[in-house]
Amino acid sequence: MNYDTVMQLALERGFYFPSCEIYADAQAGFWEYGPSGVSIKTKFIELWRRELLRRDGMLEIDGSQIMSKSVFEASGHLASFADPVVRCISCKLNYRVDKLIYEQTKIEIPESSDLVEFDKIVTEKNIRCPKCKGEFERTRKFNMMFKVEIGPEAEAAYLRPETCQSIFVDFPRLFKTMRGKLPLGVAQIGKSFRNEISPRQSLLRLREFYQAEIEVFCNPTKLNELERFEEVKNTVIRLWIDNSLKSMTCQEAVESGIIPNKFVAYYLGLLTEFYERTGIDVTKSRFRRLGEKEKAFYASVAFDFEVQTTIGWLELVACNYRSDYDLMSHATKSREKFEVIDEEQKVLPHVFEISMGIDRSLYTILEHGLREEKEHDRTVLSIKPYLAPIHVGVLSLVKKDGLKEKTDEIFMKIKRKYDAFLDHSGAIGRRYRRLDEVGAPFAITVDHQTLQDETVTLRRRDSMAQERIKISDLDSVLSKEVSFP
Ligand code: GLY
Repeated sequence: MNYDTVMQLALERGFYFPSCEIYADAQAGFWEYGPSGVSIKTKFIELWRRELLRRDGMLEIDGSQIMSKSVFEASGHLASFADPVVRCISCKLNYRVDKLIYEQTKIEIPESSDLVEFDKIVTEKNIRCPKCKGEFERTRKFNMMFKVEIGPEAEAAYLRPETCQSIFVDFPRLFKTMRGKLPLGVAQIGKSFRNEISPRQSLLRLREFYQAEIEVFCNPTKLNELERFEEVKNTVIRLWIDNSLKSMTCQEAVESGIIPNKFVAYYLGLLTEFYERTGIDVTKSRFRRLGEKEKAFYASVAFDFEVQTTIGWLELVACNYRSDYDLMSHATKSREKFEVIDEEQKVLPHVFEISMGIDRSLYTILEHGLREEKEHDRTVLSIKPYLAPIHVGVLSLVKKDGLKEKTDEIFMKIKRKYDAFLDHSGAIGRRYRRLDEVGAPFAITVDHQTLQDETVTLRRRDSMAQERIKISDLDSVLSKEVSFP
């Protein structure tokens, strides 16, 4: 299954669809989650909370999406969060020049290169506008933040381009009021906003998107003193180093020096275990260490967690060692104190960041889970039962003879605890197939025998096997099968 089949499923089964689609001035890069999409997203977030936040004892906050100009002066985004752009002299269309160069010549040139380097290649390779074949103006930097005006005096502020800035700004208060102790992880889920020049491929490059970010504050002199490392030392991580894949345990990665310390290796291990539980095929994943010119301006060491899909490698998570870049910048600009005491040592914490793209992760879960079974004439979304938008379909074989009423009664009993979908109409085979497509791991069917012996048919999505179970056992079967691991 590929990008197009996922898109078809998304549109037809309520996962996601374009925002404002009924109007001609709908802007690219904005998508809505429908009911199936919201349901899987909510469960994905719950899994993230369980496997990363609660497991590691992190704090979670929920900050503002609009933040003041000072935040982004301090963070460096006003000066540096910009893409290199060229504009066609004839038709005035803008393009991200590094992408355009790659598309037309396959030359990879990092986005942080000097602007003259882009101009040189555009001239030498005679790169022209894909639409009208016009020539380009010189490359310029385009800042990707959305500016907003606050109040009648129109004071400048910005939609946050990454959720983590509130975590940095709030750090002194959080550490004090929550009686923090290093290392301390602080997390946030929410929307971020980037004025992408070429948003495309639905959830994969959005202008408004969900991030799940974790910032772990640590004492930089103790990066090899993490007791919790024992929990993941034997977890295998897949590292892309010097153009080759190396699978090794976290322990081996630290001992060989490929990962700089136990602290970073621990979180890469945790992240791998998390993604295994999402059902994404982690044998198609890698942590790719970024080169100097690829890293974000605030990162001193960076690994991208990437997953192979039918449209290529997708970056799902950026893991950045941000050192004291952010706390130092905010301390200097705000004159607040960001140092804390760690076992009688005064320290300005360093930060290791695990910045997850939720939308791309959800896309990958769908693509890796979707398969066509020609022999059974069905498309099945074989995702983890605990992430399924619908846990169980509740069906009546026919509506008459009191079967509808009995089905309604069972549905009423379970609908508060499970995501259940009641369906009375259409051929039973077609109803099963619709449930298969939205990944419902179970369907129960009420038939004439139900009225005699209080049993129903339980059908399993993946094997299509059917068994009879007592209505009184339904809760224990479902709760065992759809619970988080
Ligand atoms: N906070 C890192 C990022 O947004 O990529």
